Amino acid sequence: MAGDMVGYAVVGLGVGKNHARGAARAKRCRLVAVCDINRELADQVAAELNTEAIYDFDQLLERKDVDCVSIATPSGMHADMIIKAAQAGKRVVRETARY
Ligand SMILES: NC(=O)c1ccc[n+]([C@@H]2O[C@H](COP(=O)([O-])OP(=O)(O)OC[C@H]3O[C@@H](n4cnc5c(N)ncnc54)[C@H](O)[C@@H]3O)[C@@H](O)[C@H]2O)c1
Repeated sequence: MAGDMVGYAVVGLGVGKNHARGAARAKRCRLVAVCDINRELADQVAAELNTEAIYDFDQLLERKDVDCVSIATPSGMHADMIIKAAQAGKRVVRETARY
């Protein structure tokens, strides 16, 4: 954390773009980056929210300025991504899955 600001990132920019929009507006968050393997989508959301686009989840996890990551990829990917993020020392928010 930089002071009392949480460095926030979102991976998966379908419904996840709404996480990113919320984080961009939140008082004690700084939206550090958005991440999607769809580069065009990542670039578009990053431009809308004046943040950085990252196309690879492992690169996102390497970022020291990311304290918390929203996982909003397709449901079957959540478990592995949550474990990886936790192992990288990140706090995790997970989009509720549809079963
Ligand atoms: N769409 C909704 O209204 C809604 C509502 C409730 C819950 N959810 C849940 O949200 C999650 C995402 O659903 P969605 O509808 O947004 O799906 P989506 O397919 O629209 O979006 C998922 C995004 O994840 C990206 N992605 C896939 N693999 C990736 C990877 N390895 N690294 C980075 N990005 C990757 C895809 O390119 C895509 O842009 C699911 O768990 C779903 O159940 C969605």
